[in-house]
Amino acid sequence: MKLIIKNGIVVTHNKEVRRDVLVENGLITAVGAGLDTDADEVVDAKGCYVLPGLVDAHCHLRDPGYEYKEDIVSGTKSAALGGFTSVACMANTNPVADNKAVIRYIVDKATREGYVNVFPIGAMTKGQSGEELAEIGEMKEAGIVGVSDDGYSVKNSSVMRKVMLYAKMFDVAVLCHCEDLDLAEEGVMNEGCLSTEMGLRGISKACEEIMIARDIILSERTQVPVHICHVSTALGVDLIRKAKERGVKVTAETCPHYFTLTENACEGYNTMAKVNPPLRKSEDVEAIINGLCDGTIDIIATDHAPHHADEKNVEFDKAANGIVGFETALPLSYTALVATGKLTMPELVQTLCKGPSDILRINRGELKAGSAADITIFDPSPSYRIDVEKFASKSKNSPFHGYPVNGRVNFTIVGGKITVRNGKIV
Ligand code: DOR
Ligand code: ZN
Ligand code: ZN
Repeated sequence: MKLIIKNGIVVTHNKEVRRDVLVENGLITAVGAGLDTDADEVVDAKGCYVLPGLVDAHCHLRDPGYEYKEDIVSGTKSAALGGFTSVACMANTNPVADNKAVIRYIVDKATREGYVNVFPIGAMTKGQSGEELAEIGEMKEAGIVGVSDDGYSVKNSSVMRKVMLYAKMFDVAVLCHCEDLDLAEEGVMNEGCLSTEMGLRGISKACEEIMIARDIILSERTQVPVHICHVSTALGVDLIRKAKERGVKVTAETCPHYFTLTENACEGYNTMAKVNPPLRKSEDVEAIINGLCDGTIDIIATDHAPHHADEKNVEFDKAANGIVGFETALPLSYTALVATGKLTMPELVQTLCKGPSDILRINRGELKAGSAADITIFDPSPSYRIDVEKFASKSKNSPFHGYPVNGRVNFTIVGGKITVRNGKIV
């Protein structure tokens, strides 16, 4: 099977240039100007960007256990439609992905039925209880690329230190959900005037920042690299910036909702905007964007967190936390960051492709001869409003319904196979 992508602008993490791309037997075999060969299929990418397939270092596929929210089939369809070709799924499933049997189940099902590559993240601690380490070595053999108790922080610093040392021994990434749960108490949105006005309990920024500081210090003392998930506050960005200046091996991610929305999205008790960490203030949004621009924040992840309508159509303080993100991440990022001139296309590609791949050490996210043919074709020109009813995800919990964006994924190619054609799942 020979496929050629013609007339597009190939964007990699360090350049953008008009090139054709030849794909043979699941690999990219040539990237060049005016490639002239016969192929089984020619894809015309005129007017489009040809990107390395996007890599999501943080999502929730909800399988096993919460298939009414999402499963590996619907979740990977949604990922493919968003231009993702590899995704790393978090361990807060039921049962928790804290052992090799659950990891094997995820890997096997994704291999048989998935539309993109799935890289499972194993829990740090058994049952995500923060007390006893999970079997990291056995899970590594079964296929994990990282560990995380995402949804919770590991509260006990001694346990967290051991997690880091074991993770280093087994060469898996450490992904930290930073939240001091005691300090957060029963908060449901960002703490401030608005939470008071709305009569809702607030979550102070300190909840996140204290744990970011702790995990940076543990990393500094153990020399084990750590990755900070979903950074949402200005001081959080600054703590990471200062740590990097000292040479700490810390990387960080943010999500599109943290650079496009503020706590005001919660007005009217809009549960679609309820997420953890919570949406913050405009000065935080600005700091997150600056962090992306100066490289303090290394990557953009979705934190795709599907929830059933019944879990959102309730009082704000009872609603589930989370936003679905696969099908909006690239248009939101392009519109907010590239169309505004804040990032170049190669810089955006670094945050969505090679950056996440390097953190997970999965050797993806590049578009060059010899690499796996994971490719996304993105047309930057269409302007439209996001319509959650069109999502392939089983869940529609997004605050971006009706939000204006530019750009659409036309094709997604995974291992040389077209999984999305003209914006539709194949
Ligand atoms: O909003 C969130 N949703 N934050 C988390 O940490 C967990 C996630 C989920 O699993 O729904
Ligand atoms: Zn989290
Ligand atoms: Zn998450």
